[in-house]
Amino acid sequence: MNETALEAIYRGIREGWSRDQILESVVDALQTANPKYHWVGIYLLMSDTLVLGPYRGKPTVHTRIPVGEGICGLAARTRETVNVPDVRQDPRYIACSLETRSEIVVPILDSDCVYGEIDIDSNDEAAFDDTDREQLEEVARLLVPIVAKPGCGKESAHAHL
Ligand code: SME
Repeated sequence: MNETALEAIYRGIREGWSRDQILESVVDALQTANPKYHWVGIYLLMSDTLVLGPYRGKPTVHTRIPVGEGICGLAARTRETVNVPDVRQDPRYIACSLETRSEIVVPILDSDCVYGEIDIDSNDEAAFDDTDREQLEEVARLLVPIVAKPGCGKESAHAHL
């Protein structure tokens, strides 16, 4: 059986993997376990910009997204999961692929800061339900200590990811 994203995080912590090794294994596990997750990526918040980290799926030009723009920027601004069943009906959506039909964005946050988010696109309409949301929010909670930075990371706005 393939390792789940949660198992990968636990193993990464136990074995002392780097942040990026853990994030790589999480996007890998999420995509492998879910045939409807056609694009899976993790954006990390640097100052007021979401910067794309590890991802699986086609390359995107949207590697930097300001908070407040697109579905990704919306989730970071509102601090809430955003589930868009049909991206064609949502004017806030920034297209990464013409094949995408639905998208879910889950912020990685604690009570103080948003550190990043898990972004998943599907070529199927309404691909994400409450079970997806709950599982992804659990993954996001476990990622907080992996990606958290003092001061919400604002002092490292120009650091290279
Ligand atoms: N669709 C996102 C942009 C990122 S791509 O999905 C990878 C958005 O509207 O913010």
